[in-house]
Formats: sequence, structure tokens, C-alpha cells
Amino acid sequence: MNIRQRIEKLRDQIRYHNYRYYVLDDPEIPDAEYDRLMRELQELEAGHPELVTPDSPTQRVGAQALEGFGEVRHEVPMLSLENAFSDEELAEFDRRVRERLEVDEVEYAAEPKLDGLAISLLYEEGVLVRGATRGDGATGEDVTRNVRTIHSVPLRLIGKGYPRRLEVRGEVIMPHEGFRKLNERVQAEGGKPFVNPRNAAAGSLRQLDPRITARRPLEMYCYGVGLVEGGRLPNRHSRILARLRDWGLRVYKGIETVRGLGGCIAYYEKMERVRNSLPFDIDGVVFKVDRLDQQQALGFVARAPRWAIARKFPAQEELTRVLDIDVQVGRTGAITPVARLEPVFVGGVTVTNATLHNEDEIRRKDVRIGDWVIVRRAGDVIPEIVRVVKERRPRNARRFVMPRKCPVCGSDIERVEGEAIARCSGGLYCPAQRKEAIKHFASRRAMDIEGLGDKLVEQLVDQELIHDVADLYRLDADTLAGLERMGQKSARNLIRALEASKHTSLERFLFALGIREVGEVTARALARAFGSSDGKGMSDSERARADIERLARASQEELEAIPDIGPVVADHIVRFFKQPHNREVIDKLLQAGITWPPQEQVAEQPLQGKTYVLTGTLSRMTRSEAKEKLQALGAKVSGSVSSKTTAVIAGEKAGSKLARAEKLGVPVLDEDDLVALLEQGA
Ligand code: IVH
Repeated sequence: MNIRQRIEKLRDQIRYHNYRYYVLDDPEIPDAEYDRLMRELQELEAGHPELVTPDSPTQRVGAQALEGFGEVRHEVPMLSLENAFSDEELAEFDRRVRERLEVDEVEYAAEPKLDGLAISLLYEEGVLVRGATRGDGATGEDVTRNVRTIHSVPLRLIGKGYPRRLEVRGEVIMPHEGFRKLNERVQAEGGKPFVNPRNAAAGSLRQLDPRITARRPLEMYCYGVGLVEGGRLPNRHSRILARLRDWGLRVYKGIETVRGLGGCIAYYEKMERVRNSLPFDIDGVVFKVDRLDQQQALGFVARAPRWAIARKFPAQEELTRVLDIDVQVGRTGAITPVARLEPVFVGGVTVTNATLHNEDEIRRKDVRIGDWVIVRRAGDVIPEIVRVVKERRPRNARRFVMPRKCPVCGSDIERVEGEAIARCSGGLYCPAQRKEAIKHFASRRAMDIEGLGDKLVEQLVDQELIHDVADLYRLDADTLAGLERMGQKSARNLIRALEASKHTSLERFLFALGIREVGEVTARALARAFGSSDGKGMSDSERARADIERLARASQEELEAIPDIGPVVADHIVRFFKQPHNREVIDKLLQAGITWPPQEQVAEQPLQGKTYVLTGTLSRMTRSEAKEKLQALGAKVSGSVSSKTTAVIAGEKAGSKLARAEKLGVPVLDEDDLVALLEQGA
């Protein structure tokens, strides 16, 4: 095979794999393999620039910005759709269609109404030659170079039988995930975020520099054709879409043909249910008379066809006023400002509150008490304020001020520099945080109190039988036996479990306290650093007290000197012990008789300074057990492979991490190697 043939072969393969990936959603090869094909093609083309053609998959992104967009006259006008806002209006449409066609029932193609912007793609001899916006329907803008950067737009059609000139129409959208990431990036760079995915898609397509568009996560779904010359298409809309798909164009998978009004309503209801689990916004569904001869018979009115209608979903955004802003305390102490709203009907329910997430969010959106705002409620998602209508801001609108004390427990509200969330520092003391704290305290890896499940904790707190974790040790069997789903026997068992839990280890105890960011590994490091190795004549409880005292007095610097503890964690620890409530609870726990044995002296850790990545399925232990064992020997276990990784430990069905290790030349160990490593270390 000569170079030219090899290049053509690679291009065909890449086009086919694009089709598998973007159109069928069913990739045949892993990304790494695709990358290899692409790289080979790039290298060959770099060595033979004379063989580069514009429809090569390497040629998506042009290099220079344009001065402005040219105009495109649509030879077949791009129409809009009539809207129906209720089933009655839809029924009216169906009745008109049936009457004009003089039939009893009509078959409709039912499609989602994608919320993006309409785009026309012109293919000549299968090669994409032009992309244009809808504009006013008669004239749009030439956005060819931008459209070419969208990976779901084929630069060349695949398969056979397409017309010599074929204009394909569809919607360019930005999926939620990409929209979220884009806005994060825009904000990180100090820019103004986009209001919604549609605006982001429109803004991205109107960039004069295609290199910018190329970085935007745009996708295109096709829903019809315009100009068709030099070839024939099937005689039904649904079949045309199926052909487009065969030629490598992306068409939404859930398009159906339905019968009559009943079929339309069922489809609408189905899409309304799945709407919020779709990866992109849709604002309704579109019904189109499926048979083209019937479409032709129906014709057009003004700027919309008589053979199609958009059944719109109820609005997910409405206008209302912010009556007040107050705060809610979450289970980790996170303080969330909440806007109290003038009740408004949106997304199918009456909304009276909207979360404002955090102070930065309020500042960014500049929401003030008294403002008119756009509220959004999408599905079961918590209602949100999308933006303020600044033009309507009343003179007496007030700014929100974060309270300094927790409204539930009165502890200081603190906000660590660099973090978005303000938190109640009440910890174990704050009722809003208490239940979760108690559940954590009792959990298996913490104090391991068997029989103290979540439901029981909730009952105990709700009935005010306990206020903090120390109260657990004051419960008696009679009180417990009186609770729901508890008998004498389980009450006695629980008392026994509580007694047993008093003999613990310092590291479990520290983990159980639920200090922010102090997980098991940090708790272990703290226990090693602050636990006394022998009591020097002290009783167990005196020694326990001394251990805690030492830790509570530790300075930020002393803490940071401990392996694995950085400034943020050190700061959490210092703050935790500064709160008198936390000290009181710890005192009560120690008084109740919680003790631990002296700290064992540990030798230099054998795997200190090494970093491993676990991937795939292990047969002799779970990944989390392997992780614990490696950490016990001083190793770090990371979730991603880098050149600093000591080795990747690969079990069965290891995937991309293994591939990455191979690429970076990081050693790969199997399960036997892991076992040997653990034994040698132990
Ligand atoms: S068909 C003659 N189908 O809605 C029919 N349009 O209000 C022309 N849209 O400009 C359009 N999803 O941007 C059609 N499945 C779909 C659609 C769809 C979204 C947009 C399109 C059009 C607007 C009409």
C-alpha cells in the first residue's frame, strides 16, 4: 500500500469510528486506539502536505480568525414551527390536519424539540461545503469554519446513495455537562458565565476564531433536510432521518412514529418524564406528519408548515420577587443561603424558596432582598435563581449579610479562605449536624457500635434522648426498649455493644470525632504522633486524657510537621479543638470510660514515599482492603496515574489506567506482586 492509499484508508477508518461513536453511540474501539489512528494520519499528512484535503478528519480547526461572517441565502427557506401549549391546542392541530387530508388518523414523526440553534449543513458530493445559521429564515450567516469543529458533524458523509447536493438541517446544542465545565472555565478566567446552554451554544458558534469554537463542547442533531438535488430521498420523514443516520449524521435515537392524537400525547408525556435525565435541554416535542405526500398537500401558512407543530413543555423559568434571604444549616455544618420568594408557579409546582448555594454565588449573581429574579425549576431539581432582572431593582433593595453565628446552635460561622462554603463551627454540638455526626461516630470503622443504625439515631435525637455522642453512653436498656422496633433483647445487646466500644484505639476515636478532612489515614498519623507509648504509672484513663490534651494543644506548625497533614487539615484540627463544645463532648466521652491501649511504636514505614494506583478487580481482596493495607505500610494510594506513580497494580479487567501506565512507562504489578509487596512490608 502506498502512502496515499494508507492515508485514505486511515481517513475511512476514522470516519467510520466517528460514526460508531457520535451517531450510534456504540464505539467499537477504545479511545486510545482511535487516538493512534488519528496520530498516524496526522504524521503522514505532516510529511506529505500535498495530500491534505479539507475533508480529512485532521482538518476540523482552521488557524485564523475571520473578520466577519459572510451571508448565506437559504435556497429553501428555514421555517419556524407553530406552538401548542396544551393538549387541547394539540388536538386542534390534529383535527385540522385530518380535515384537510380527509383521513381518520394521521401518522406523525415525534421528536424532541432541542433547545439550541438551527443550523443548515450543505454537502456536495458528500463533502461538507457550508454551514449556516438560520438567521431570519431567508438569510443566515456563514459559520462553516465553526461548524467544522463540531465532532458530530461529519466533514464527509459515509456510505452510498446520498444526493449530489444535500442540505441537512438540525440543531446545534451544548450538553449540560459541557456547559457546566465551560462556565467554570469562563469564571476561572474572570469572564461572565453564560445564562443557559442555548446562549452558550449560540455564543460559541458566533466566534470569529474557530479555534475558540473548537474548545466549546458543541453537538449537532439533525431533524430534516432542505435543498435536495441530484438524488432521491425516501417518501417519509422518519425514513429520511434513518438515511441521514446511515450517512453518518447524528439523529436523536428516541424519534418515533406515532398514530393520531393519542400517540402524540403519550409521546409528549414520556418525554416530559425523561426530560430531566437527558444530557441536554429540550423545551418540548415536535410532531411532523410523516408522509411527504401528505406534507405537500398541507403546505404552509406564513412562515410555518401546516404539517408540523411544537408541543411546548410548561416553562421552567418564571419571574418573581425575593422577599428575604436567610440561611439553612446542612448536615456537615454548611450554611446555605436560601431566598424566600413570592410564590410562583414554575416547572409544574408552586415555588417559595430557592437555594443561593453560598455567599460567592449571591455576590456573583448580585441577588438582593427585594429584587425581581428569574427562578428556574427543572424536574425534581431544587429551584434556583438564574439571574436578577436589574432593570427592575427597587431603590430599597438590600444586600445579604452572612450571619456570624449559627442560627441553630449559636456557634461561630466560619469560612476558610479559598473555600466557597461557610460553616457552622458547632460540630458535634449543633443539632443540625448532630444526627450525621452520631451516625458517623457509631459507624463500623469508627467506634463500631453494633446495632446503632441510622433509624435508631434519628429516633434518639428526635425524642431528645441524646444530644451528643457522649449521651449514647448514658442510655439504659429500659429507655431503649421503649423505642420503635426495639425489644428488650435488642436493647440489652445495644447496651453491651456500647460498653464494648469503650475499648477502642486512639486512631478510631479521633476518626470517630468527625473532624473535617480527618479520615482514617490522618487519624492514624495523629495517633502515632500524639499517642503515648507507655503510661509511666498513669491509669488508662489518665493516659487517654493526656493524649487528647497533647493533640488539643498542638499548634498549626506542629500538626503540619506530621506526614500527610497539610495546612488545610491542620487548620481544621486546630479549629475543632478551639471550640469549647467539642472539648466538653470529648471530656464526657472520656468520663464515660473510653480508653485505648498505649500507642505501639512504629518503625520506619517500609512503603513510605511510594505511590500506587489500584485498577481492575482483585480476586483475593477488595480494592479498598488493598488500599488500607498499602496505606498501613506508609504508601500513598492515588486515583490517577502520573509519571510520579511508583507502580500501577492491575487486577482483572483493568482499563484506561493500565493503558496510561503503559504509555507513561510506569511499572505494572499484578495481584501476586501486590501480595508479595504486602508480605515483604509486613
Ligand atoms: S423542524 C419546518 N424539528 O425549533 C420545520 N425544529 O420553532 C422546521 N427545533 O428553528 C423545524 N428541535 O431550531 C424542527 N426536532 C425539531 C426541532 C426543531 C428544535 C427548533 C429549530 C427551529 C425551531 C422552530
